[in-house]
Amino acid sequence: MLEAADTSDGMNGATNGTMTISTASADLIDKQKLAVTVSRIHDEADGIRSFELRSADGRALPPFTAGSHVEVHLPTGVIRSYSLCSDPQRHDHYVISVLREAAGRGGSSYMHDHVSVGDQLVIAAPRNHFPLAGREARFHLMLAGGIGVTPMIAMIAELERRGARWQLHYCTRNPQRTAFMAQLQPYVDAGKVVLHHDEGDPTRGLDIKTTLAEFEIGTHLYFCGPPGFMQACGACLEPWPPHAVHREFFAGSGTGLDQEGNEAFEIKLRRSGTVLAVPADKSIVDVLKLNGCDVETDCNEGYCGTCITRYLAGAPEHRDTVLSDKERKSYVMVCCARAKGLLELDL
Ligand code: FES
Repeated sequence: MLEAADTSDGMNGATNGTMTISTASADLIDKQKLAVTVSRIHDEADGIRSFELRSADGRALPPFTAGSHVEVHLPTGVIRSYSLCSDPQRHDHYVISVLREAAGRGGSSYMHDHVSVGDQLVIAAPRNHFPLAGREARFHLMLAGGIGVTPMIAMIAELERRGARWQLHYCTRNPQRTAFMAQLQPYVDAGKVVLHHDEGDPTRGLDIKTTLAEFEIGTHLYFCGPPGFMQACGACLEPWPPHAVHREFFAGSGTGLDQEGNEAFEIKLRRSGTVLAVPADKSIVDVLKLNGCDVETDCNEGYCGTCITRYLAGAPEHRDTVLSDKERKSYVMVCCARAKGLLELDL
């Protein structure tokens, strides 16, 4: 589940401050953006509300795979990303689920307080940085912290369809804060979903270290949750080979482009031999784009993995939350990485 950073990127065709879209007849706003109507709102648990979205003119929505997210472009100009928790086989609607965050930056409270059934929203087409492993996987082990369960709800639908073996450890504070129980209860009864309530006491709840103590060939691990949960899981991955570990961070959870203390450095492009200066207030991606070298990006905060780039020489300072230690020896996330001296990129 992603919650993207505030941006000033506006809502195409929208009247600022309302949920009305001036191009209401067109449900495709541009190549990537879609106009959708909120068709149902459901309170899943304390502070967690689901929104069912359908295309404005009833046509099928673009297909997505389990683990995907969509960006919601709010009329306030804020963009938030939310995992899709509906069944990927359903193309008539999407469902996103939003935790109200009192200390958040306004996106979740806007969704809770200002979005009603019948409103129109603009979303970007789904993207997936947290896909399920293929059918060669023998077992799928999922760990969810709080609202981090949302991508796993779609994953469960897909895994059940495949007839795959899976288990979800779902960690929440208490039953009142445990969402999707209508869907999950049959799996709780079958032992496939195990609930862990810590009542706010970090010494209670799931024993992550024990749960991840052994890796069995063919098992794939997925985890998503708030920063403390991600750190706790990330600290227990010693037995796990990188290819078997899949994680999704919430945006703004320790990633990003904090410029304090940044220093200038240089990059060299292998193919042309060009050397470019990266000033303290610009990212590698900024400099590449300014010089006509287009690199695909999405989150721009180091958590989605889109901008992964191989480097050939130099000492990068990694600021992403995606790469493993092993991967960091060969790759950088150019949206957020910095370097000392000269960094040679395989571009
Ligand atoms: S754009 Fe997401 S990690 Fe760089």
